[in-house]
Amino acid sequence: ARTRRYTFNVTMATVTRLCVTKSIPTVNGRFPGPKVVVREGDRLIVQVHNNINSNVTFHWHGVRQLLSGWADGPSYITQCPIRPGQSYAYDFRIVGQRGTLWWHAHFSWLRATLYGPLVILPPRGVPYPFPKPDREVPLMIGEWFNADPEAVIKQALQTGGGPNVSDAYTFNGLPGPTYNCSAGDTFKLRVTPGRTYMLRIVNAALNDELFFGVANHTLTVVQADASYVKPFAATTLVISPGQTMDVLLTAAANPSSPAFAIAVAPYTNTVGTFDNTTAVAALEYAPQASLRSLPLPALPLYNDTGAVANFSANFRSLASAQYPASVPRAVDRKFFFAVGLGADPCQSRVNGTCQGPNGTRFRASMNNVSFTMPKTSLLQAHYQRRYSGVLTANFPAVPPMPFNYTGTTPNNTFVMHGTRVVPLSFNTTVEVVLQDTSILGAESHPLHLHGYDFYVVGTGFGNYDANNDTARYNLVDPVQRNTISVPTAGWVAIRFVADNPGVWIMHCHLDVHLSWGLAMAWLVNDGPLPNQKLPPPPADIPKC
Ligand code: C2O
Repeated sequence: ARTRRYTFNVTMATVTRLCVTKSIPTVNGRFPGPKVVVREGDRLIVQVHNNINSNVTFHWHGVRQLLSGWADGPSYITQCPIRPGQSYAYDFRIVGQRGTLWWHAHFSWLRATLYGPLVILPPRGVPYPFPKPDREVPLMIGEWFNADPEAVIKQALQTGGGPNVSDAYTFNGLPGPTYNCSAGDTFKLRVTPGRTYMLRIVNAALNDELFFGVANHTLTVVQADASYVKPFAATTLVISPGQTMDVLLTAAANPSSPAFAIAVAPYTNTVGTFDNTTAVAALEYAPQASLRSLPLPALPLYNDTGAVANFSANFRSLASAQYPASVPRAVDRKFFFAVGLGADPCQSRVNGTCQGPNGTRFRASMNNVSFTMPKTSLLQAHYQRRYSGVLTANFPAVPPMPFNYTGTTPNNTFVMHGTRVVPLSFNTTVEVVLQDTSILGAESHPLHLHGYDFYVVGTGFGNYDANNDTARYNLVDPVQRNTISVPTAGWVAIRFVADNPGVWIMHCHLDVHLSWGLAMAWLVNDGPLPNQKLPPPPADIPKC
């Protein structure tokens, strides 16, 4: 194992997409940002210098941060933001993880342009448990806003309505030929017949779950969220924001066309509030003069929840002798979180015209608590045991008022507010059932847990039924992930062992829902042994 050092200079840079030229926050002037490559077991030190006129933090999405919570990055959770002109070094080890993860800013909506791949190679000399690909290609799918994304969310929070949708999806920062004024900005993957390529796919979009396909090519899924899976073939992938997927693609020996479309389209149940364009990159066997008429993959209809469920059912962890699944069979604490939208009354002191549902302002919540971002770092407060005025340890284990979650919306859609956490003793085995509610519309929510991978032991449509559904859990080879979508009008059950002391946010990875408060945090206490305690903060940790 070695130490790998990177420097992130956060600077504004001028970028043109869709014929719109603007100045955007970048890392080292690049959009998307640089690829970070490490090996499992390495120590990674990323020195960040903030040279923009905004606060910033960076999150290493999916990295477990065992005993290194100070490096996790979500602003006001594990650190105060890095202010303009300040620096902070993220210093952590990659322990027991390999595959594709990614990094992104974790302050407001800055991750719209501040993101990049984090590739974790196996320890030297250790092969993949699948045939070695001829080439590996990171493929980051993002969103481009002609407007300033910060202005977009600010306006949405002020008016109480939904934010403007983005103007394009991008592949490695490039929108491609289906958008006006963009044919020259197409990501091209040049392939050789018969060779095998591993696409390291990341959904870095802010607010869209995506269908993904490559015309005339079958994909073999080998890894998800940096955990091996039993390989399976698919023509369409479903990738939620935050999730990563490594897939093998073998170039045809005799391709029927000199080039094919690599395409994404949104999966959503919120008609009319999304960019419904199919965005493409090019899989080229030979360079093409025009990319306008590439053969397209047949992607499902935008609201095809059945296709999503069928795809998700394929995931099984490898669970081999070399890579066993250690699924908790018994549970110490069981939680039931109702996840969905809600509302706040219109406050004229904020804005006279509330554009949310029935003249209210949109919010989102878990167990009807909409998360209030604190003004100081929760981890710092926890380390100093100074909780008063910062957080309360009363996040409800079950909804305050059970109802028919997939039925009609209750009369009162107003949410409660607070910075509420669930304290856990070290090594508690936790089960969480995440239940979608149909309040203001059933919707899929990609829930991301910081500091842990979890096993996805069960999922289904309708209301979770403890008597029957629990008996059908997969405790043999469930997939291990860090982000899982709570299905539209359905539920998903996850299990993890709270063996990583610190404060860990769990939130919807649709940024608009996070901004509306769809988050909570686990406060995992130290264990009795010296190597089970959160170390002191680094000397350069930013102050609030
Ligand atoms: Cu990728 Cu808290 O996020």
